[in-house]
Amino acid sequence: MARLLVAHGPNLQRLGSREPEVYGTATLADIESAIRERAGDTVELSFHQTDDEATLIGLLHGAVDSRSHVILNPAAFTHYSYALRDACALVTGAGLTLIEVHLSNPHAREEFRHQSVISGVASGVIAGFGPDSYVLALEQIITLVGGPSRGNNERH
Ligand code: DQA
Repeated sequence: MARLLVAHGPNLQRLGSREPEVYGTATLADIESAIRERAGDTVELSFHQTDDEATLIGLLHGAVDSRSHVILNPAAFTHYSYALRDACALVTGAGLTLIEVHLSNPHAREEFRHQSVISGVASGVIAGFGPDSYVLALEQIITLVGGPSRGNNERH
């Protein structure tokens, strides 16, 4: 079975109470259960949140070693962490899919959020749909690994 790491960067454990006008009121636990529900037994999931850049990089190295696809919300690291970018490049360079996700649409926000140093080495980017950004990323991973789509066994 295909493996999937879902990794969340800094401050995302505060979802639910963190700037709800921007990020909504769903907690990280809510997002994880939505992902688990959609995934069913199509992929083997692992979830991690960390505020620490080195830990996040280590998780990506682990994804390379275990041949795990990745859904990553790099949070503020998106905008400046070249070290995280290089780790993401290791994942996609190994032929694995890495989807960058954001709850908000950073392009509709402050200027400093308009740049992502991650996007150039990601397989794709989904932003602006709240918790659904993660679920949409999962749908794409499932499509790529050839699992059943929602509701029936046909591919869309
Ligand atoms: C975020 C957007 C980033 O700019 C911000 O620093 C975050 C969350 C999002 O999911 O919308 O922490 O990645």
